[in-house]
Amino acid sequence: MSEKWQALRDHATSVARRPIVSLFEAPGRAQAFSVDAGAARLDYSKTNIDEQTKAMLLTLAEVSGVAEKRAAMFGGEKINDTEGRAVLHTALRAGIEAKVFTDGVDVMPEIRKTKARMAIFTREVRTGKFVGQGGKITDVVNIGIGGSDLGPAMVTLALAPFHDGPRVHYVSNVDGAHISDVLKGLNPETTLVIVASKTFTTIETMTNAETARAWMAKKVTTPAKQFAAVSTAADKTAAFGIDSTRVFGFEDWVGGRYSVWGPIGLAVMLAIGPEAFEDFLAGGRAMDDHFLTEPFAQNMPVLLALVGIWHNQVCGHASRAVLPYDQRLSRLPAYLQQLEMESNGKSVAMDGSDLPTHSGPVVWGEPGTNGQHAFYQLIHQGTRVVPCEFMVAKQGHEPDLAHQHLLLVSNCLAQSEALMRGRSLNEARAIMQKKGAVGDELERQARHRVFPGNRPSTTLVYPKLTPFVLGQIIALYEHRVFVEGVILGLNSFDQWGVELGKELALALQPILEGGDVSGKDGSTQALVEYLRV
Ligand code: F6P
Repeated sequence: MSEKWQALRDHATSVARRPIVSLFEAPGRAQAFSVDAGAARLDYSKTNIDEQTKAMLLTLAEVSGVAEKRAAMFGGEKINDTEGRAVLHTALRAGIEAKVFTDGVDVMPEIRKTKARMAIFTREVRTGKFVGQGGKITDVVNIGIGGSDLGPAMVTLALAPFHDGPRVHYVSNVDGAHISDVLKGLNPETTLVIVASKTFTTIETMTNAETARAWMAKKVTTPAKQFAAVSTAADKTAAFGIDSTRVFGFEDWVGGRYSVWGPIGLAVMLAIGPEAFEDFLAGGRAMDDHFLTEPFAQNMPVLLALVGIWHNQVCGHASRAVLPYDQRLSRLPAYLQQLEMESNGKSVAMDGSDLPTHSGPVVWGEPGTNGQHAFYQLIHQGTRVVPCEFMVAKQGHEPDLAHQHLLLVSNCLAQSEALMRGRSLNEARAIMQKKGAVGDELERQARHRVFPGNRPSTTLVYPKLTPFVLGQIIALYEHRVFVEGVILGLNSFDQWGVELGKELALALQPILEGGDVSGKDGSTQALVEYLRV
């Protein structure tokens, strides 16, 4: 255990029993432990972080080389060194003047060219210039998985008030139930299928793409004309039969889980139009500028990362709940699961040694207020502490339902307050006394009504869930994951941990079809025997 971690752990032990609420006795805590980025604000004052903790964490970021790695990433260096790739998703949202070099080549002209082609295609689809066999496209089906699904699906749902194009649907799971249910209500003659796959080899996506083509072929003479593709593999999209005019390429320096900003966002662009998509990119860009220029002590992604490191690696809280009080962000937790867990769920440091700490946390969540009626019981009274990340907009998109928005906001604030304050045994006794309980029964009942409190949370507030604000939020989390990865000393941009299962699944396919199972362990053998049809 290196000194930097040990000092933080010792400090955490020394403050562990201190009530968070007591930190508010010092005036101005909420302001001192909040940070603004544009109109968004992150309040991390309801944590056990004090000035000393903050200073130690900021030093941790500095000595871990966050600034140097940040410059290397934006500068096109091959920081994804287990795959020998640069990491330049930020170039996808860079401004019109930007030049971004990797391997001595400015990547921006190609990015702009592809974006312009996407915008032309999008306008043609939306205006009816591009038609299906049955006329104007009414529905778009995006077939992809992981980063080729979670990002665009989450963004499409989040920006529902901005939809003015065809209906957009997503198919990801290899389970035939998914594609059947989606295609059931659609007319093949007015449907456009986008096959979204960085590699164009992912078995789930290619299988679903074949299924969609067969479905379309029953009604449409030349289905390939109603297919578009988004990929880095132009040879493979051509082999699948998709005309190059409807193929939108990108380079291998865009990781799947970071790819929504470019061609993988085509379905989003079709739903909201190229202008609103530009606003989304501008939001991401604004967060990039903030991340690049603000000192660490006022840098939202850096501070959010440090809060994460404090709770997980220092205090030992193994999971983190993301709780958007924004129904349209209901897919955000799933999106963040890939972003955070595929990026930082690793045990080996860049140099091949074992990580000296735990890897990134388990990330999970659901929108409020739904979660309150499901798992908040454990968050409030369970034996493990789950740091919570709340988020809520000042305004909703439904002016007629402002009273409902008020209820939403009050619930969000109430939860973080309840987690921090808790309810003491004496308070619980008073409640039970009022209800008429006495003696042992009063004592027993009161204990069930105690909330330990002192449970940390952060709250991200923003004006309204617009394309710009959503862009800010996603880029905030991307950079948070990056900073945490640098501090942990791992490579946030590879994903070797998904490979073994893929290999074994390929080998199991023929075994399930009747092949020799004897090389498998006893459990797998027995399960294969049960599941064989
Ligand atoms: O298996 C994991 C993964 O490689 C993700 O990283 C990626 O987002 C997903 O599969 C889909 O990959 P592709 O876009 O190449 O189909």
